[in-house]
Amino acid sequence: MKKLLAFSFSLLLTVFAFAQSTLLPHLEKQGNSIKLIVKDKPFLILGGELHNSSTSGIEYMRPIWERMAQKNLNTVIAPVYWELLEPEEGKFDFTLVDSLILGARSRDLHLVILWFGSWKNGYSMYVPGWVKNDQEKYPRAKNKEGDSFQMLSAFGEESMKADARAFKMLMKHIRETDAEYQTVITVQVENEMGLFMTDRDYIIDANKAFNEPVPSDLMKYLNTNKGKLQPEIDSVLKANGYKTSGKWEDVFGRSITDLKNWKTLSSLTEELFTVYHYAKYIETIASEGKKEYPLPMYVNAWIKQPRGGFPGKYPNGGPIPHTLDIWRAAAPSIDFIAPDIYVSADNAIYTVEQYHRPGNPVFIPEFRHSDESARFAFWAYGQHDAVAFSPFGIDDLNPDEDAITKTYAALSQVKDLILDHQGKRTMAGIYLDTVKPLQEFDLGGFRIRAQLGGGSYAEIAGLTDRSKRATAAGGLVFSIAQDEFIVVGKDFRLSFNPLKPDEKKPFIDVDYSDEGTFIDGKWLTTRRLNGDEGTGGGDYGFGSGNSLKSGNLRFQKQPDDAYSIIRFKMYRYK
Ligand code: DGJ
Repeated sequence: MKKLLAFSFSLLLTVFAFAQSTLLPHLEKQGNSIKLIVKDKPFLILGGELHNSSTSGIEYMRPIWERMAQKNLNTVIAPVYWELLEPEEGKFDFTLVDSLILGARSRDLHLVILWFGSWKNGYSMYVPGWVKNDQEKYPRAKNKEGDSFQMLSAFGEESMKADARAFKMLMKHIRETDAEYQTVITVQVENEMGLFMTDRDYIIDANKAFNEPVPSDLMKYLNTNKGKLQPEIDSVLKANGYKTSGKWEDVFGRSITDLKNWKTLSSLTEELFTVYHYAKYIETIASEGKKEYPLPMYVNAWIKQPRGGFPGKYPNGGPIPHTLDIWRAAAPSIDFIAPDIYVSADNAIYTVEQYHRPGNPVFIPEFRHSDESARFAFWAYGQHDAVAFSPFGIDDLNPDEDAITKTYAALSQVKDLILDHQGKRTMAGIYLDTVKPLQEFDLGGFRIRAQLGGGSYAEIAGLTDRSKRATAAGGLVFSIAQDEFIVVGKDFRLSFNPLKPDEKKPFIDVDYSDEGTFIDGKWLTTRRLNGDEGTGGGDYGFGSGNSLKSGNLRFQKQPDDAYSIIRFKMYRYK
C-alpha cells in the first residue's frame, strides 16, 4: 500500500498545477486510518449509487439531483458508459459526462464515477457496438469446451487497449472540466468484473499461460513481501513449500472444491490466475487514466457469499478480499478494493471485516437499499472507519420515505467528529436488529451495552404509545473525555459499566445529558435532558431495573423521529 500511496502522490504532484491552490482528491494515511482528502480536508462520503441506466438520460436526471440533496447525500455514485462515450471508434461524445458533472455541481454534490467499460457484473454489455461485433479483434472468454461466453476475455490485448484509450479520454476530459471544482473525487474502474460458470478462461492464450511459470512480476512481489503477505496467500504458499518460482499449480498447489462450505477457498489456484490477468488488464486502463488525471481509483466486487461461495458462482477474477495481494502486485494503480453488499446483517458484518485490512480502507459503493441499511451505515463508519457508504438505487423513494435521509442528516452533523476519531479506537458504531438486539463493546474505560428498543422513559412508564417498536437501530458513540461521551442514535438504549470500578465511589449517575447539534464543528446544546427525560428520575426511575453501578442513556423521541445527538457525562459517588 505504501508503494501505491507513494505512486499516487507523485502523480498528484505532477498535476498539481491543474488544481492550483488545492491538491487533487487523494488518499492519505493518517494514524491508523486511511482518509480521502478533498480540497485539502478529510472527506466522509455520505453516498448513494444511482440505478444503472439513470445517467444515460439527461431529462430523467434533471429532478434527481435535487432529491439527492434532499436526502442529505454529499456524493452521488454514477455510471459513465463506454458505448455512449465512444459510439464510433475514436469519436467521443462527452455530453452525458458534462451533464452529470454539472448536475451534481448544481446541488453541491460530489461524484464517484463508475466506468462501465469492458465489464459490468462480469458481462460486457456496455462495450460499444463496434467492440461487440468484432469478436476476432475483441475476443470473448471461453469455457473448457471452447465455446465463447458473452464477456470479453481478459486476454484480449486489443480490447484492453481500446478500453484504456477510452478511459484515458474520459479522465482527460474530467481533468479539463473539473480539476478546478473537484466535483469528481474518485473513480471505480469497471464494475464487478469476473467470469461466471467457469474456474478460469480457456481461451488459447489462457491455457498457455496457466501452464507456464507464474509471471515474474507476481513472483517478485510474493518473494519480496514474504512475511507481510495476507494470511490466505501466505498459508497457501507455505503449504506448497514457499516456492520462489514455478507453474501456477507448483506455487499455489492443486485446488480443492468444497461446495458445502461457502467460506472455503475453492478453485483457489485458478482463481488467483484469473485475478492476476484481470488485474493486469485493469492496471493498463487505470494507469492510462491516471496519467491524465490521478484521482483515487478502485475496483468493486460481487462478493463471495452463502449460495455463491465459489469462483464462477460469484464473478471469478474480481476483487474478493483473499485476492488482495494479487491486486496489489498486478494493479498498483488501483488504490483499494471494495465490496458490494446485498447479504444479511451478520454476513454484511463479516464482509466489511474481510475488506478492512491494513492499507485497504472500507469503501462500500453498493449496499442493499433498505431501512436496515440506513441503520447499518452508522456501524460501518463507526466500527470500521468507512470512507464511503452508499445504498444502491438511491434514485428510488422520495426523500421523506427513505430512511437514509435521516441517517445522513445526523451523520452530516457529526462527520468531522467521525473523521477526527477514525483510527483512534475512541469511537464505536452500533447496529442492532431483532436477530441481534444486543451489542457490547469497550470504550473510554467502560463496557457499553447497546440494546434495541427501550425508547424514552415516558414510553417505559406507559405514558406514550409503545406499539410501534423499532426492528433495527443504528448509532455512534464517541469517547470525548473521562466519563464523557457523545452519542448519536434512536431506538436503542445504552448502559455504561466501568471496566475498573472505583472502589471509593462505586455508584454512578448522570452528571448531565444534553441534546444538541454541531454548528461549524462546535457543539451547541439545544435541550438539557434531566429527570423523567434524562435519568428517568434516578437510578430506580420508573422501575427500569437499572443498576446503581452503571450509567444509563436513553433517547427522547424527536418530533420528526430524527436521530438525537447527546452529550453525556457521568459522575461517581458513594
Ligand atoms: C450489483 C451491480 O454492481 C449494480 O450495478 C447493480 O446491477 C446491482 N448489482 C443490482 O442489484
